[in-house]
Amino acid sequence: MYHIKTWEDYLTAYEHSVAHPEAFWEEIATNFYWRKKWTLPLECNFEQPSIKWFVNGKLNIVENCIDRHLQHYAQQPAIIWEPNNPDDAHRVISYAQLHEAVSRFANVLKMHGVYKGDRVCLYMPMAPELAIAMLACARIGAVHSVVFGGFSAQALSERIQDAGCKVVVTTDSGLRGGREIPMKEIVDEAISNLDINHVIVYKRTGKPVLMKSGRDVWWHEAELHAQAVCDAEEMDAEDMLFVLYTSGSTGKPKGVVHTTGGYMVFTAYTFQNVFQYKPGDVYWCTADIGWITGHSYMLYGPLLNAATVLMFEGLPVWPHPDRCWRIIEKHKVNIFYTAPTAIRSLMAEGDEWIKPYSLESLRVIGSVGEPINHEAWEWFYQHVGKENCPLVDTWWQTETGGIMISPLAHITPLKPSYASLPLPGVQPVLLDPDGKLLTGADVEGLLCIRFPWPSMLRTTYGDHERCRQNYFATFAGMYFTGDGARRDQNGYYRIIGRVDDVINVSGHRIGTAEVEDAINEHENVVESAVVGYPHAIKGQGIYAYVICNHSPEDESLTRKEITDVVVRIIGPIAKPDKIQFVTGLPKTRSGKIMRRILRKIAEGETTHLGDISTLLDPSVVEDICKENKRMM
Ligand code: WT7
Repeated sequence: MYHIKTWEDYLTAYEHSVAHPEAFWEEIATNFYWRKKWTLPLECNFEQPSIKWFVNGKLNIVENCIDRHLQHYAQQPAIIWEPNNPDDAHRVISYAQLHEAVSRFANVLKMHGVYKGDRVCLYMPMAPELAIAMLACARIGAVHSVVFGGFSAQALSERIQDAGCKVVVTTDSGLRGGREIPMKEIVDEAISNLDINHVIVYKRTGKPVLMKSGRDVWWHEAELHAQAVCDAEEMDAEDMLFVLYTSGSTGKPKGVVHTTGGYMVFTAYTFQNVFQYKPGDVYWCTADIGWITGHSYMLYGPLLNAATVLMFEGLPVWPHPDRCWRIIEKHKVNIFYTAPTAIRSLMAEGDEWIKPYSLESLRVIGSVGEPINHEAWEWFYQHVGKENCPLVDTWWQTETGGIMISPLAHITPLKPSYASLPLPGVQPVLLDPDGKLLTGADVEGLLCIRFPWPSMLRTTYGDHERCRQNYFATFAGMYFTGDGARRDQNGYYRIIGRVDDVINVSGHRIGTAEVEDAINEHENVVESAVVGYPHAIKGQGIYAYVICNHSPEDESLTRKEITDVVVRIIGPIAKPDKIQFVTGLPKTRSGKIMRRILRKIAEGETTHLGDISTLLDPSVVEDICKENKRMM
């Protein structure tokens, strides 16, 4: 692997990666097991876009995640699983056991008609079996599409259809804190009108569920007939590894597609260098596997490095807000990677919850998913890291596949609330809205990446044009991130946030159009506009302006009904925090909603709203402000 150990290493590696990017990545790629070496490192055209890394290379990522390590690390824990309930026993799965479990489940999938190229939907809570199912798919060349457990039946159904999944893997139910989530029931509802061949159900809780004969099978029963040996399928470097749905600026979520070779090389390289993982370390990432962080830094990146990953089923504040600290002490966690929302909510609970625990095993702490504010940064650094663990603020996206801008632990000098410097191999630039390159220090602009990197998205499933439009058409020859950023005198980047109609709630990406479409399904709603506003814990909250057909008799009842509709259509993660009834929305003469104004009002700003003269009817703004004041 390309192991950066010092600041000088970083500078040399960065320079080399810009001067000879292809050679740089080839060097890293040689550290893996390829059944056949690539013939060309890169073939790329950003216009179409068509991006191929390690052209004609053949491999299987699971051979690299598991089989390759069996000689030296067979007995080392691959996954330590900490259950929701602290009184239940934890599980430890060694690399040898993981190898067997993955092979066995790969055979179960084959027995149920899943082969290379088929898509499999995984709708599961945080159980090791989710990781096993993902790896089993990858072992036989099937494409996994993991859907986060917080999505509703309807959202799940849409994603199953979009990817054309014929098999779904789920559990009877899932536990999160004091709640039980009826996973199988949700799947049943999602697929009631779909042509699904099989549902494989892992028994997690024992909750009684309906099993449709001929279609539904129990994981443990199917396994009785499966062998524990399964040859890994030979895949092309550019064969699809997985689809992961994420929100964009239109109502329909898009399936971000990642392929095999480049994703493997990039996630392994970034994991090692950002966290400076050392053999024997216990690494804990609190993200749900249903998001990209879980894919890249709970599963593939760590396993490719033969790491020990801690997987936690529950919630940081359940049964008490000391749960994280208990887990760190219990399992002697060395690296702790979490999200600003979790940090802020733990900070709000007070320091007393931390004091009784020894966190001295910690060596590196990290943050991902949204900008981390100063206060949360300082608290995390002082109270959790005890001022001697570097805090790596890692910036990246579902589409980038892995960490792009981040300090390297113990190497890069830190600057609070700055994601700092690009990793070697990553070439960020800032542009103004006309596409002019902003050079120099202390500039603010739109964040783009100007050279391909191995784990960038290749397409959006079933809709390549959308991928082109969204990421490659805004600025010629560039990948556009959708984020705004500033760069200081030392070249450090500070991510400001999204510049499109996407909001970031607790690190979950939510398209405003998606929420509007859902709200508009309520029978009394004519139109709605959704914006984000600053929220002390969640980073951003969801603020909805709603026009009703006839003014609601009971406003709080209508608010509840609207919320229920959103929960039904998208899921609890998209619940509006505030709903304001209005009689009109600020629109330009061409009918475009001026969200800038709505954002200001949602922030509580009702006097300095900027230029409103281009509005069709400026008086609506006054009404909205008045009503907003009344609500506060
Ligand atoms: C968006 C991507 C990356 C995995 C989790 C989210 C925001 C992400 C940071 C950070 C400031 C960040 C950006 C980005 N974001 N990390 N360290 N500092 N903002 O993945 O759902 O694809 O969201 O999250 O706005 O575009 P995602």
